[in-house]
Amino acid sequence: MPVIDDFGIESLAVGDVAPGFVVARVDTLSIDAWIRTTLSDAGMHETAALGETIPALGVGQIVESNSSDLAVGDWVYGLMSAQTHALMPASGLRKLTMQEGIAPGDFAGPLNVTGGITAWVGLIRVAQVQAGDLVVVSGAAGAVGSVVVQLAKARGARVIGIAGGPVKCSYLTQTLGADAAIDYKNGHLAQQLAEAAPDGIDVFFDNVGGETLDIVLDNLAPAGARVAICGAISQYQNLDDVRGPKLYLRLAERNAMMKGFVVSYYEADYPEAVAEISALMKAGKLTLPEHVVSGIDHFPDALLMLFDGGHLGNLVVRP
Ligand SMILES: NC(=O)c1ccc[n+]([C@@H]2O[C@H](COP(=O)([O-])OP(=O)(O)OC[C@H]3O[C@@H](n4cnc5c(N)ncnc54)[C@H](OP(=O)(O)O)[C@@H]3O)[C@@H](O)[C@H]2O)c1
Repeated sequence: MPVIDDFGIESLAVGDVAPGFVVARVDTLSIDAWIRTTLSDAGMHETAALGETIPALGVGQIVESNSSDLAVGDWVYGLMSAQTHALMPASGLRKLTMQEGIAPGDFAGPLNVTGGITAWVGLIRVAQVQAGDLVVVSGAAGAVGSVVVQLAKARGARVIGIAGGPVKCSYLTQTLGADAAIDYKNGHLAQQLAEAAPDGIDVFFDNVGGETLDIVLDNLAPAGARVAICGAISQYQNLDDVRGPKLYLRLAERNAMMKGFVVSYYEADYPEAVAEISALMKAGKLTLPEHVVSGIDHFPDALLMLFDGGHLGNLVVRP
C-alpha cells in the first residue's frame, strides 16, 4: 500500500504555450482505481514513471489557448493529471457540450468514462441486463457501483448491492433504490447472499474480485447467468499474485458465462450511454453523490481513501 510520504508536491511555472497547445485550469479530478495500478511494475495499465505527475482523468476550463480547436472558456475532459493547471495538446482533450441540468463536474462522475459510462457498458453491453433479472453488484456504493444499481433498476431488474458498512447499505436501499443491500464487512456474505437470492443470481457486476467473486459464483442461477468482470479492487495491492476464482467450475455447472471488459473498447457506445444516463439524471432517476477532497495537496489522501472505503459515491479532488 502506498503511503503519503511516497508522494511529493512541486510548484512549477506553466511555461510557453506552443502552437496546438492549451492551458486548462483543472476543475475536478476523478479518483479512480486504475491510478493505483500505474504505481506498480506489474499491472493492468502502464506504469507511471517515478517523479512524473500522477495520471488522472478530469474536467477543466481553458484559460489560455494556442489552438483554433479550443477557445478560452471552453470546458474540456481528458487526462489532466494531479495538477492545478494542465498544459496539453488540444488534441488530447475533448470539448464538452454543456446542457441544462448537467454540471461540469458530472463529466467526472455519472458521465465520466471511468464512472457512469463504465457502469453502462458493463451492465448493458457486457452483461446484457434484462427486465426481471436479479442483478448483484459489488463495490455497490462507489462511483461505478452506484450507477449500476440505478441503471439496473431503470431497466426493470431487481438489485442487491454489496458494500462495506451500515451507512453504505442504507444509502443503497434508501437513496439509490436497491431492493436489498449486504454489508460484506459483517462477515456473513455467503449466508446473506444465499438468503437474499434463493433462486440464484442472473447478473453479477464485479468491482471487487477475490473471495466475493467466489461467493457469488456459488449462488448463480441454474442457467444463463452473466458475470461481468469490471474490476477487482481487492487485488490491486498485490498484482503480482492475483487471486483468481476458485469456483470457476460453477460457470460450467450453471451454464453461465463470465466476461471481462475495458470500457475504452466500447468507445462507439459512449454517446448512447451518455444519452441514457443524462436523461435519467434530468428526470431525477439517477444521482451520484460527490465526496469532494479539496486542494491538490490532498490528492494522495484521496487516492489512499479509495482503498479504505472512506467515501460514498464518486470520489473527486477539486484542486
Ligand atoms: N473495466 C473498466 O474499464 C473499468 C473502468 C473504471 C473502473 N473500473 C473498476 O471499477 C471498480 C470501481 O471503481 P470506482 O472508481 O467506482 O471505485 P469506488 O467503487 O468508488 O471505490 C472503491 C470502493 O471499493 C471498495 N473496496 C476497496 N478495497 C476493497 C477490498 N479490498 N475489498 C472489497 N471492497 C473494497 C470500497 O468500498 P467498501 O467500503 O464498500 O468496501 C471503496 O469505496 C474498480 O475495480 C475499478 O478498477 C473498471
